[in-house]
Amino acid sequence: MTDNSRGFTSSIGAILAAAGGAVGLGNIWRFPYMLGQNGGGAFLLIYVFFVIMIGIPLMMTEFVIGRRSQSNVVGAYRTMGGKHKGWMALGVLGIVAALLIYAFYSVVAGWTLNYVVLSCSGQLNGLAPDAVSQTFSDFSQGSYLPLIYQFAFLALTGLVITMGVQKGIEKVSKVLMPILFILLLVMCVRSLTLSGASQGLNFLFKPDFGKITGKGVLEALGQSFFSLSLGMGAMITYGTYIRKEDKLLKTSTWIAVCDSLVAILAGIVIFPAVFAFGMDPAGGPELVYIVLPNVFNSMPFGNIFSIVFFVLLGIAALTSTISLLEILVAFAVEELHWKRGAASVVASLMVFAIGAFCALSFGPLKEFTIFGKTVFDLFDMLTASYIMPIGALLMVIFLGWFYPKAGVRDELSNGGTLKARFFGIYYFLLRYVAPIALIIILIYGIIG
Ligand code: TRP
Repeated sequence: MTDNSRGFTSSIGAILAAAGGAVGLGNIWRFPYMLGQNGGGAFLLIYVFFVIMIGIPLMMTEFVIGRRSQSNVVGAYRTMGGKHKGWMALGVLGIVAALLIYAFYSVVAGWTLNYVVLSCSGQLNGLAPDAVSQTFSDFSQGSYLPLIYQFAFLALTGLVITMGVQKGIEKVSKVLMPILFILLLVMCVRSLTLSGASQGLNFLFKPDFGKITGKGVLEALGQSFFSLSLGMGAMITYGTYIRKEDKLLKTSTWIAVCDSLVAILAGIVIFPAVFAFGMDPAGGPELVYIVLPNVFNSMPFGNIFSIVFFVLLGIAALTSTISLLEILVAFAVEELHWKRGAASVVASLMVFAIGAFCALSFGPLKEFTIFGKTVFDLFDMLTASYIMPIGALLMVIFLGWFYPKAGVRDELSNGGTLKARFFGIYYFLLRYVAPIALIIILIYGIIG
């Protein structure tokens, strides 16, 4: 029997926890606006293609590294890199990425809490479209409310992490993920029964390749990456908690299916409603915070659906912030020998110290720019366009070209007890297809 004291207690627990890490603001907030700006259906098809060809193999790669090394990102590269200590730098890059992503991600996560409060207290009710936009800008440009909500979100996440891998992460994910799906389905039914819904479905599902540009293709690739939380060690950390008897291909495939399903369902919630009420599907990042409240205001019982929607967005964000904090805490506990609770408090405070600059990037610190970008935009760009693709590129080189092939096969076949089906295909994608795709994303990120 496997020693389960360290990690997840079941396959379903592992899948739900990792799917929780993957499903987040990226699916419900970022995916719909990216799709909206890139013409709809064709973007969806290209996105799904990349998830299968690049996303699943990369996730398997992270799981192999995590489960084989049984340690945090830095420890993983130390153990598996053998005498080549330089690989540890890649682990350190993962820690830096987690800090930076968590710093700006927690800002938008905090916004969801504010919108839950606004919906519950009826403050968005019956506002004219101008007033809805005004509410969003007044709040996001404020000098203290964004900080308070960000702090609240960090505290909530810290609490779950302090409770541990099994009692915190696994348990919370097992409760929240099914709730997330149910709430999403409720919202889908509401949206699909609006008159005029079919126009939104056409936009989402009917591919019009004439609308796709080179930039759109690359954005689909980048989005598949961001959405599956790849390239900075999140899945390495969770991989260490996956039981030895679980199949990594199956686990990765399930996570990718859940993640894409949530993104598609979010599209089914948003686009029929947007079209039914004559709004602009290319509304950009404000689609969720400005366009949707207007939509809710135009429908019967909109206030209730508004609460449901923002609670659901908050849940999606929480399971992701949990996986971000766990990267830092696993590192502090294993490498620095801190206690779990202390590690979680110190890491959260550090993130708050940096993240405060992100929270204030829309108001008081709007003029405070580095390379012409606010701190929020800088962290977003640094991680999504540089650190994640570079981290992923070096990671596939590590496992595909440096680490012995037999070791990779052994981990995927669970020590030879399973037939490592599709191993040849995986190894080919790992060694050739993934690196080339990543180099293209990187070049695009640098020149674009
Ligand atoms: N996948 C998350 C989302 O879709 C965002 C994300 C990117 C992330 N990298 C991560 C979450 C690392 C946790 C850990 O919203």
